[in-house]
Amino acid sequence: MVPYVSLQARTQAARLLVRALKKTVPHLDFSEKKMRLQDVRDKRLGDLSSNVCFEACGRDRSLGNPIQLAESLVSSIRLSNDALFEKVEAANGYVNFFFSSTFYNRVLIELAGHSSYGIGDSGKKKTVIVEFSSPNIGKPMHIGHIRSTILGDSLARLYRTQGYRVISTNYLCEAGLQTAKLLLAVKQFGREGILTENDLLKYYVKIHAEMETHPELEKRARALVEGMESGDALVLKDLKSVRDTSCLPFERNYQLLGITFDEQVFDSDFVSEGKKLVSEAVKKNVAFKDTGGEIVGNLEPLGLPNLVILRSNGTTLYSTRDLALAARDYRKYKYAFRLYVTASEQNLHFQQVFALLLALKKPFADRLMHLGFGLIFLEEGRISTRKGHVVLLEDVLQTAKEYALKEVQQRQRYTPKEAEAIAHSVGIASVKYSVLKVTAEKDITFRLKDAVRFDGNTAAYLQYTIVRAKNIFRKGNVSEIPALPKALPMHDQEKRLIALLSSYPDVLSAAAHSRAPHAVCTYAFSLATQFSLFYDACPVLKAESEESKAFRLHLVKSTETVLESALDVLGITVPERM
Ligand code: ARG
Repeated sequence: MVPYVSLQARTQAARLLVRALKKTVPHLDFSEKKMRLQDVRDKRLGDLSSNVCFEACGRDRSLGNPIQLAESLVSSIRLSNDALFEKVEAANGYVNFFFSSTFYNRVLIELAGHSSYGIGDSGKKKTVIVEFSSPNIGKPMHIGHIRSTILGDSLARLYRTQGYRVISTNYLCEAGLQTAKLLLAVKQFGREGILTENDLLKYYVKIHAEMETHPELEKRARALVEGMESGDALVLKDLKSVRDTSCLPFERNYQLLGITFDEQVFDSDFVSEGKKLVSEAVKKNVAFKDTGGEIVGNLEPLGLPNLVILRSNGTTLYSTRDLALAARDYRKYKYAFRLYVTASEQNLHFQQVFALLLALKKPFADRLMHLGFGLIFLEEGRISTRKGHVVLLEDVLQTAKEYALKEVQQRQRYTPKEAEAIAHSVGIASVKYSVLKVTAEKDITFRLKDAVRFDGNTAAYLQYTIVRAKNIFRKGNVSEIPALPKALPMHDQEKRLIALLSSYPDVLSAAAHSRAPHAVCTYAFSLATQFSLFYDACPVLKAESEESKAFRLHLVKSTETVLESALDVLGITVPERM
């Protein structure tokens, strides 16, 4: 672990506690390593708090009441002059530590000297795969894919902050009946008709209508699945043009979002390995052929519904190809874990696939993790009706930009080019933030109009806070921040701001650990709010002394750095002006 000052403070508090416990209750054994310290919300009560007295009294009833024990512990603690705490207090059985000016100063020194403050190293030398977005060839990206794309990108960034080598991957799904129907449409209506994704949509609708009246076409579609799987050259040629047309809007969306992948794979490349794994499963008695001729993964003994892994005509399914994908990636990357980010509708699918790989005793089976997220709704009806039933990702992003442009134009005069750049940044950021600030498992409903607002818990508010911090330097003509002055008396709001800055490394590592970008949102919002409180209470450019001005400029700069870094984890960029 990187020994940030915040971590050192915890270690120091733990050491002081264990030493005091040895004196006060020598018959009980406590280790520094296991000593947990909680952050205190109400700063009047302290900064870090321990409930070890409750634990001690629980272990030895004869000690009586934790209130007394806390008092005797505190009276035996001696703080040195350069300690990271200025005082320790007993309160209702808790032992509360208050940060010293040494602590605050050291945090600021650390921040000033660290180009990537907050970065951890728990993921060093480990490769992880984060798979997200994964749209379907031949179909538009809908609002459900928005959540996967935004969440997955942020998770990939979060893991990178912990030192992992992250491979972000997009698993494009094209094998199967859906695409086969499109191929059939291409056969019926001609390849030259599919220049854009709208043409694909039209073909899709048309072939569906035709299949209703001509059920025998279903058979031909199935034959095309076989053709795709056996590598029939003509079928593959059509597939390639469908694929190329279909990927265009995906690329546009990723560009709008500013999201890139380290790898893009197509599920049709996993057909043959999938079939091999099916044979292996049958051989190992993990799967069986059922009466209809399908091969079924035998999961009922494991408490899950059985899973079909091969059709009776020998073609593969979504499940088959997922077995192979996990295997191939492990061969290629030896991942520490592989995370799949999809809608929670697929929870069962992944449980089944993982269970089957476990039953096959694959060494990577326990390294597979799935994050299933809730539904997402938009309150604006307009977008959902423009192109039929599905809400298209691109429409959402464009509409967010339009709304943002209105907000921007209301505020100040910009050249059209400037306004457009700000609206782009704010619009995209607003959508991302609306998705990320909610716990993945929960459903989201949001109004784009509210999402782009400049006040409240929004992306624009956070972006604006950074721009405001930068403006302070511009306004004061400060090109270089003066050296950090030695310990000054501090305003409460200054202390709170530094304490919050110091917790950033912990916030990042905890968020990565629990796969929770929303925790980074919560942190960013409280940092921005605290910055505002500080700024209202403590004049910076008009500070009472040069020293105090220098000190506060450091605070402003540090806030800017940390907030910018937190937004970067969320995939949010900050415009120069707004
Ligand atoms: N294409 C699928 C969909 O849109 C998601 C794929 C998820 N990844 C996977 N390895 N199965 O629902």
